Amino acid sequence: MSAEAVEVLAARLNGLVPRHGVVLGSGLGSLVEAVRDPVCIPYAELPGFPVSSVSGHAGELVAGHLGAVPVLVLSGRVHYYERGDANAMRVPLAVLKAIGVRSLILTNSAGSLREDLPPGSVMRISDHINFSGTNPLIGRDGDDRFVDMTTAYDAGLAERMQAAAAKLAIPLPHGVYMWFSGPNFETPAEIRMARILGADAVGMSTVPEVLIARLLGLRVAAASVITNFGAGMTGLALSHHETKDMAPIGGRRLADILTEMIAAGGDDHE
Ligand code: HPA
Repeated sequence: MSAEAVEVLAARLNGLVPRHGVVLGSGLGSLVEAVRDPVCIPYAELPGFPVSSVSGHAGELVAGHLGAVPVLVLSGRVHYYERGDANAMRVPLAVLKAIGVRSLILTNSAGSLREDLPPGSVMRISDHINFSGTNPLIGRDGDDRFVDMTTAYDAGLAERMQAAAAKLAIPLPHGVYMWFSGPNFETPAEIRMARILGADAVGMSTVPEVLIARLLGLRVAAASVITNFGAGMTGLALSHHETKDMAPIGGRRLADILTEMIAAGGDDHE
């Protein structure tokens, strides 16, 4: 953890103690617009925070309120494929925990494996499959590395996310997210395999953060914005341009859901 980053952040927060943290994926910045009285701190000003090389990832921490509830938003993440470091988000998540965050909501853009989950839709992640072959917890000492994943995705937060979506009349199916290392998109054969293995969506992020967050004892919820069907499911080629163009569409819906979820819930999560 970076004690300096905690110090810099605490000074900028001016007494605010957010219990909710949010990590925003590519093109999902619209939640930031809903944050009241935002204090924006570029990652570069927070010692130990990684700066992303991926276009579409802003790389700033935004503190403020959603409704009356204080929140910390990590706008932009670093992925395993950027440097081969599955632990890239360890410092930001540990700093959030040290500041007082107890619940973490992770978001991403993902490819759909289901015909009934088209581009533009939003899926709550109910569980995941780590297909990357790596793990941010590799190399840790001590028994806490044996993280229990039975209830990694918190039932109470899931219920609140579903209730927020229902209130806004936004469909929110849930499903299993499969983590591929990236940065290439999957092959059609890999997509067929992922469907057979029980995945509903595929992507290149989030799972390492879930593992780190559970190690830190944070409660976790997660959701995917669907930007495309998996490779080979349509006649179309896949591209990062498409991800960036499509993400804001479902991203606005997801931002509404998360704003409602956090603002409506107050600080009753402990
Ligand atoms: N595969 C992996 N990651 C993704 C995809 C995909 O199809 N779409 C957006 N992120």
